[in-house]
Amino acid sequence: MADQPIMRVLAGETAPVPPVWLMRQAGRYLPEYRQLRQAAASFLDLCYTPGLAVEITLQPVRRFDFDAAILFSDILVVPDGMGMTVGFEDGHGPVLEPVRCAGDLAALDPGRVAAHCAPVYEAVSAIRAGLAPEKTLIGFAGGPWTVATYAVEGGSSRTFETVKNWMWRDPAGFGDLIDMLTEATIGHLSRQIDAGADCVQLFESWAGVLPEPEFRRYVVAPTRRIVEALHARHPATPAIGFPRGAGRLIEDYVAATGITAVGLDTGVPLAQAAEIQKAVPVQGNLDPLLLVAGGPALAERVSEIRAGLAGGPHIFNLGHGIVPQTPPDHVAELVAMLRAGA
Ligand code: CP3
Repeated sequence: MADQPIMRVLAGETAPVPPVWLMRQAGRYLPEYRQLRQAAASFLDLCYTPGLAVEITLQPVRRFDFDAAILFSDILVVPDGMGMTVGFEDGHGPVLEPVRCAGDLAALDPGRVAAHCAPVYEAVSAIRAGLAPEKTLIGFAGGPWTVATYAVEGGSSRTFETVKNWMWRDPAGFGDLIDMLTEATIGHLSRQIDAGADCVQLFESWAGVLPEPEFRRYVVAPTRRIVEALHARHPATPAIGFPRGAGRLIEDYVAATGITAVGLDTGVPLAQAAEIQKAVPVQGNLDPLLLVAGGPALAERVSEIRAGLAGGPHIFNLGHGIVPQTPPDHVAELVAMLRAGA
């Protein structure tokens, strides 16, 4: 395999300058993305048209020289493929045909994801072919719990009331949904690796809304199954977990799942991050809004994070995705600061 700074860190090396990529590095903050987005019928059209997905994936790598490209897609292509028709309405976020009880599961089929997402895997192959050998291609999926929140709520939620109600009232039925999503996720990530992804990231963006026992049952246990299945099929492919908001349970998540590396959200203190780094490589965790603010506050925090995590394997990233109002110039400054050894 080609020598890639990100893969070296994922293998446990400490880099003199941390390699960098940013969650949601492709998207609305880039004028070149907005131009393609305007011309397309919908956001999902971008995801399912390989030519467009390839171009959008490469845009930020070309502009900022990041060390990785992350496949341009969405975590909701998996439930879409299983039969919960997903739509994205402008300004309203995702809308899904919800599943709310065991009876609704009969309409879903994890086996359909492979054919439905064929254009996604085609995009992965084409991206790998067009990407410089030293750049890492990251594939991804949503964690089963996070995808379940969208599937059951029918979209984004603030309270997670519907999904938690089902989870507690009918653990067997809800567990079946988690199992179906786990199976679909293993297949989806595995096919991305077959198509050329060098590593994968599992976005468990809503891990932090669960109490400890349910976190262990619906985040840790499925993640462990996913990691075991992927490593059985693809022993050399690293998997990064991103259990956002898991706080003091991150160490347990790392130990119990066997994940290769862990993405840290903005709330994780640097002292804790450095402790976690003794067990696995860490990724993170600049506040995405500091990239909006820019200036001395940004510069100062970038040096603090660099210094705090310089003693072990660290991939520089945000603690959550880039927001649309981010000035692209601030992103360029961030990369320049890192490479200047700030
Ligand atoms: O990181 C990247 O650049 C790769 C692309 C990517 C997207 N979504 C593109 C996208 C990735 C990795 C995701 C992950 C994703 N999608 C997550 C997990 C990470 C996180 O942010 O917590 C979640 C929860 C989703 C679901 C999702 N997709 C929501 C809630 C929304 C609407 C909110 C929003 O930002 O508009 C999306 C839409 C979406 N996914 C956009 C992009 C670029 C915006 C769509 C547009 O252009 O209109």
